[in-house]
Amino acid sequence: ESRTRLKAIIETAVDGIITIDGRGIMESANPAAARIFGYEPEEMIGQNVSMLMPEPDHSLHDGYIARYIKTGVGQIIGKGREVLGKKKTGKLFPFFLSIAEVKLEDKTIFTGLVHDITDLKKTEERLRESE
Ligand code: HEM
Repeated sequence: ESRTRLKAIIETAVDGIITIDGRGIMESANPAAARIFGYEPEEMIGQNVSMLMPEPDHSLHDGYIARYIKTGVGQIIGKGREVLGKKKTGKLFPFFLSIAEVKLEDKTIFTGLVHDITDLKKTEERLRESE
């Protein structure tokens, strides 16, 4: 059945997949997203996605979403960006964030893809140092 297959794909994805509603509240987080940020999925669902980022974004994020909904102009949607995430331990780490807007029948949600680039950054740094 295609629903079970789709679920298996999301559950086993290497990258984190998080969905939020129009107010930034997390509606789902796959196991990879939970692992990357150091939480259980249940600790994330129902909370504001801003719990996963340091300042100043932490305080500004609701406004980012509201501005996008109002103007239709996004900074990350459709392009992606390197941002800093904050783990449960408080440790910051770099990841590449892509966001898609999903227009459902009754409401709009956003899907965020979390690609951890901690190791990539370390390799880059080593290469720079060896130049
Ligand atoms: C916008 C940071 C996670 C959804 C933004 C912007 C930044 C940002 C800097 C654009 C601000 C501007 O207007 O210049 C972060 C950080 C995250 C994070 C540091 C680390 C956890 C997420 C996730 C989602 C999400 C996981 C979705 C599930 C959005 C939306 C917008 C936005 C919908 C507005 C549209 C846009 O600007 O493209 N975020 N974000 N964010 N973010 Fe996040």
